[in-house]
Amino acid sequence: MIAPSVLSADFGHLERDMEMVNRSSADWFHLDVMDGVFVPNISFGFPVMQAMARVAQKPLDVHLMIVQPEKFISQVRDLGARVMNVHQEACPHLHRVLQQIRQAGMLSGVTLNPATPLQTVEDVLQEADIVMLMSVNPGFGGQTFIERTLDRTRRLREMIDRQGASTLIEIDGGVNRHNAATLYQAGADILVAGNAVFKADDPLAEIDIIKGLHPA
Ligand code: DX5
Ligand code: ZN
Repeated sequence: MIAPSVLSADFGHLERDMEMVNRSSADWFHLDVMDGVFVPNISFGFPVMQAMARVAQKPLDVHLMIVQPEKFISQVRDLGARVMNVHQEACPHLHRVLQQIRQAGMLSGVTLNPATPLQTVEDVLQEADIVMLMSVNPGFGGQTFIERTLDRTRRLREMIDRQGASTLIEIDGGVNRHNAATLYQAGADILVAGNAVFKADDPLAEIDIIKGLHPA
């Protein structure tokens, strides 16, 4: 699956860019919320996401790069989001937060920064519908993919399979046509792609290529 990250869209033409994704083979819209505290940047918040939700004809995957994300579970649910992704590093009570996200009717996602050991989610895999590995340090689009993520993806796949869990693996940051196939082979289920999609000459074709529908 592929989830284009709207962070790399043209915010002056957000509706146009989101309609392109509606027409594409993409699976979800990935929405990056930043608070200037958990990450060194600020993106957009609920008023903008409400406008996005009206245009989106595909499920919303909301990635909260904020402190205390548990405060916003009902607001994310009210957007109609399919997925709420919170950072492990922002949640001392991760087990409870993942349960609350599910109770609100959404898929529960936990995200790990590149420096965070996989073992920190080993005991919540039964509560996590998705584990998302950051393949860049969060805060900005258009950064270079951190190669070690491939090995982390393989090890996470093994950990999930060993427990017989059905957790999906999502990868976020620096994904493009050159690393997508290897990431799927390593065990990834969902690839987020911002710059690779929105800065492409032909974004619709690029989505197909990253999704593996066409050879690059
Ligand atoms: C980074 C965000 C990513 C970002 C990905 O902080 O979480 O979702 O938009 O953008 P690219 O694909 O350009 O690295
Ligand atoms: Zn993201």
